Amino acid sequence: MITLNGIQKVYRSGETDFIALEIANFTCSKGEMLAIVGESGSGKTTLLRILGLLDNFEAGSYQFNQQETAQLSAKEQAKLRNQEIGFVLQTFGLIEDYTVKENILLPAKYLPRGERAAKINHLAEIAEQLNISEQLKKYPRQLSRGQQQRVAFARALINDANLILADEPTGNLDSSNSQRVIDLLKQEHQKGKTVILVTHDQAIAQQCDRIVGIKDGKINENRHFEKE
Ligand SMILES: Nc1ncnc2c1ncn2[C@@H]1O[C@H](COP(=O)(O)OP(=O)(O)O)[C@@H](O)[C@H]1O
Ligand SMILES: [Mg+2]
Repeated sequence: MITLNGIQKVYRSGETDFIALEIANFTCSKGEMLAIVGESGSGKTTLLRILGLLDNFEAGSYQFNQQETAQLSAKEQAKLRNQEIGFVLQTFGLIEDYTVKENILLPAKYLPRGERAAKINHLAEIAEQLNISEQLKKYPRQLSRGQQQRVAFARALINDANLILADEPTGNLDSSNSQRVIDLLKQEHQKGKTVILVTHDQAIAQQCDRIVGIKDGKINENRHFEKE
């Protein structure tokens, strides 16, 4: 599903360039549940943002379903992102003026009318599973951080995307809500979805099919963590 080759991401600050990511080769197969682990600042979010077509890169090739993403127009990229990718951002990215329900339904906004209606039922189901049914009419500021995180997660699930990218989705949750989120990701995985999960929690990483280590912006095949 995903193939990266020779990817380089550079952040420029004044005169100096900082290479945030340098990935020789990375692949993720359809249906895989993969954990990316690494210290803070190692490039995990940068990698996930590139995979989610939220950021560009300086060099290299990113193929999504055998399609070279750089060859897609901005509009085609947006369509791909919207239909194929569900993203749980580390910073949630909720819209303050929208209710919880409106936030969750945001990715469904551009669907045909009939499909959008079906999402309302799906919404009730997801909200129940994530324990936020009581919060649907509230605004993000009225929620705890843990609840906000679960809203962001519900939004990633609403369009039934084939690829779910989750950036430390349990970072702000207590252990019971944290396991609830992981169970939901596993459930999506069992439905055949591809899941890429960033975490620094080894207990969570161990629940995935494969663990990939990242350090100083580099994935090293030799640094793949052994599953216990
Ligand atoms: N927008 C940016 N401008 C400049 N440097 C950045 C930017 N975003 C991230 N970085 C730097 O790139 C490196 C990787 O960041 P990030 O991908 O957020 O790491 P992680 O998610 O693993 O904590 C860090 O050193 C960070 O300071
Ligand atoms: Mg990060």
